[in-house]
Amino acid sequence: MAKISSIEGRILYNSRGSKTIEVDIISDEKFLGRVCAPSGASVGKYEAVSFKNGKPEESLKILKENSSKFIGLESSDLETIHKTLNELDQTNNYSGIGGALAFAVTIAAVESASKAESRPLFSILSNEKSFKFPFPLGNILGGGAHAGPGTPDIQEILICANGSKTIEDAIATNLSVHKELRKVLEKEDPNFTNGRGDEGGWAPKLENHKALELSAKAIENLGYTLGKEVSLGVDFASSTQWNEEKKKYIYDRAGFENSSEEQIDFASEIIDKYKLIYAEDAVHEEAFEDMSELTAKFPNTLITGDDLTVTNKNILQKAINSKSCNAAILKVNQAGSLFDALEFAELANQNHIRLITSHRSGESTDSQISHIGLATKSKMLKVGIVGGERVAKLNELLRLTEHDLICGMAEL
Ligand code: PGA
Ligand code: ZN
Repeated sequence: MAKISSIEGRILYNSRGSKTIEVDIISDEKFLGRVCAPSGASVGKYEAVSFKNGKPEESLKILKENSSKFIGLESSDLETIHKTLNELDQTNNYSGIGGALAFAVTIAAVESASKAESRPLFSILSNEKSFKFPFPLGNILGGGAHAGPGTPDIQEILICANGSKTIEDAIATNLSVHKELRKVLEKEDPNFTNGRGDEGGWAPKLENHKALELSAKAIENLGYTLGKEVSLGVDFASSTQWNEEKKKYIYDRAGFENSSEEQIDFASEIIDKYKLIYAEDAVHEEAFEDMSELTAKFPNTLITGDDLTVTNKNILQKAINSKSCNAAILKVNQAGSLFDALEFAELANQNHIRLITSHRSGESTDSQISHIGLATKSKMLKVGIVGGERVAKLNELLRLTEHDLICGMAEL
């Protein structure tokens, strides 16, 4: 087994132009694992803190001061690397060293191990003998915290080619709907600038329902039946709208407010009307009971927790106990280390909670999450749609079609 011979880090920028850290781990003096940490804009209250005191430089300093503790460890020994990080950070949210550091160190280590063993990363992370491709879930229209004033309050309208039999077709279909939506938006508003949100989805000046109607139209223009071969999803990211003092969801841009009950009706109407295959954070991050109501009401939709479950296995257990979701987002940097995230995945899979491995809105051009999606038996991979940092993950899935351990698409 290859041993870590060097570990170094540096400050770089993510796709939003914000500072982040990158870590290089070399095993046996030649096998490089290199990982640059992403970061979110609509961050869950209970997710891992990205950097010590909010400063990438402080997390990097901790790495430099403690690099000797990692030298000589086996790069494939995720548990020991995780424990070494946890000895440096006694908090329960990685505020002592920064979750971004835990993210980058653990993934860089296994990537280095995968090179040393000449095996793809997904097969290093799982003992399964065969794997299935997750369906790409692409953001075709952005609003909320990911786009400017005038765009919808809801954060993301997503596309999933759920009828596709191959990953090539699923990716091509998502991209064709994104292209068609541009034409639909230009027809609707000749002054549409083709502006895009943080994840590559179009960012037009439209109210929530109009944005959904036009997205559905783009699907139908291409000859698909909405909700059959190709479906829409929505990330409501409702914690952005939730006002704890007023106990209301404030839809600033559309100009209305929802009580908790009205929010359930608002989300239900959208799920029904647009035949959503996927509905994420339809209520705020602490509304476990309201999520249970939606989960009971829509068994055929992936009622998904993101800010609700924050890739935290204790919080997921709470959601499982109260039947608050039938699907959950897996974002490694919400958990901190890859070891934490894999524990979360195990609990989800044991309890029939469908996993969606996801990027962050501030990303790097790395593509390890495509492998993490495969290894965790994720049903979907949420990686945006266009832009170098988004396409990198889709292109990695296409490269992986050359691998004979992977056959067919996941069962949704
Ligand atoms: P974030 O958004 O990366 O900005 O948190 C993504 C999401 O909410 O799913
Ligand atoms: Zn989300």
